[in-house]
Amino acid sequence: MLGFALISASLLWVTASWPAHHFPSERESDEVRSAAIKRLLEVFGMDDPPAVHAYKQPPQYMLDLYNTVADVDGVTKDPYLLEGNTVRSFFDKLHSEQVEFKFNLSSVARSEKVLTAELHLFKLRPQLYLTFSRHHFCQVSVYQILDGSKTNSTQPKKLLSSRLIPVHSTGWEVFTVTQAVRSWMADESSNLGLHVVVRTLGGSQADQKLIRFASGRHHHLSKQPMLVLFTDDGRRSAALESTSKIYISFNAIATSLLPQTPTSIKSSRTARSLDYGEEEGRSKPCQRLPLYVDFEEIGWSGWIVSPRGYNAYHCKGSCSFPLGQNMRPTNHATVQSIINALKLIRGIETPCCVPDKLYSINLLYFDDDENVVLKQYNDMVAGSCGCH
Ligand SMILES: *[C@@H]1O[C@H](CO)[C@@H](O)[C@H](O)[C@H]1NC(C)=O
Ligand SMILES: *[C@@H]1O[C@H](CO)[C@@H](O)[C@H](O)[C@H]1NC(C)=O
Repeated sequence: MLGFALISASLLWVTASWPAHHFPSERESDEVRSAAIKRLLEVFGMDDPPAVHAYKQPPQYMLDLYNTVADVDGVTKDPYLLEGNTVRSFFDKLHSEQVEFKFNLSSVARSEKVLTAELHLFKLRPQLYLTFSRHHFCQVSVYQILDGSKTNSTQPKKLLSSRLIPVHSTGWEVFTVTQAVRSWMADESSNLGLHVVVRTLGGSQADQKLIRFASGRHHHLSKQPMLVLFTDDGRRSAALESTSKIYISFNAIATSLLPQTPTSIKSSRTARSLDYGEEEGRSKPCQRLPLYVDFEEIGWSGWIVSPRGYNAYHCKGSCSFPLGQNMRPTNHATVQSIINALKLIRGIETPCCVPDKLYSINLLYFDDDENVVLKQYNDMVAGSCGCH
């Protein structure tokens, strides 16, 4: 039923756009399609679809993060869970034998505000012959590598983060490197990478094998060093305010203003014939109905990891008098529905059935550099419908 309704609605729209008896040619409908897809990309903040050559396994951290902030449909579980609206992950480009890392941040827009940056390193199990080492803890420090030609220091580096780590532990260690990333964003050429130094509690440089981190060169993809950026691109929704309490009281007053004879509106033949006719009179009241957006059908399944699609919902139905509280009318809509019902002024239609609460969705996708990005988009799902 719904599918049929959608198809006939789109046919209506297409036929209405062209002169009568002229159906769109293949070329014209292709143009409409590409213009529509381009506009849809703009909604997702992109000029072109990212070129993803080979599907890689997204980092587990990003998958876990996505599942924490979004439900299966991609809808945000809790809008206050993420500080900004974008999380970007980068793999190390250096693959150095030393504990040095470099990340290419060219895909981050200049306008993006860096809220937090984290270096994620996978600490490996200590090598067997070191199991009986007298060291139980080591001091692990992360430095930003500075340009030696610009300072007089013999060791041009800046301490970003430092802490004690048990020698026998294994798993992910996270270091905050926000300062360094902010300076790289301000001046791309200053990005010379990060350097990790491990010292014993006595302060001397520890044996390289005492605490080892997985590198992109020798270890499994799932353990690769990673930089995670929490940013905000500044896109905000015009939040819809809920003032339903006012609606209710005003609705009550408006109803009391109506003519006392209940037959004067509904059963009046002349009023009805002036209205939308029998069909409209029988149409269901304003309500929320499903509308599934399938990324595979749009041709985006190559670069979107999750979700495969989402239910945007749509609002459909009549907003004729009397507007119940369940139709969440604005005061304006209530008055308009009364004017329409009373036929006080010609040409005043019933209010429109539109989304009055919107939710954000999350997209986990590969960008042009094949980095995995999680982004939140506001106002994508109709949470409820109302007469406005
Ligand atoms: C960073 O990546 C971009 C796009 O892939 C590339 O054009 C640029 O040369 C890279 N920069 C460095 C320093 O590797
Ligand atoms: C480096 O040292 C030279 C002289 O040794 C001095 O003139 C210069 O200002 C110093 N530069 C910085 C950045 O400290």
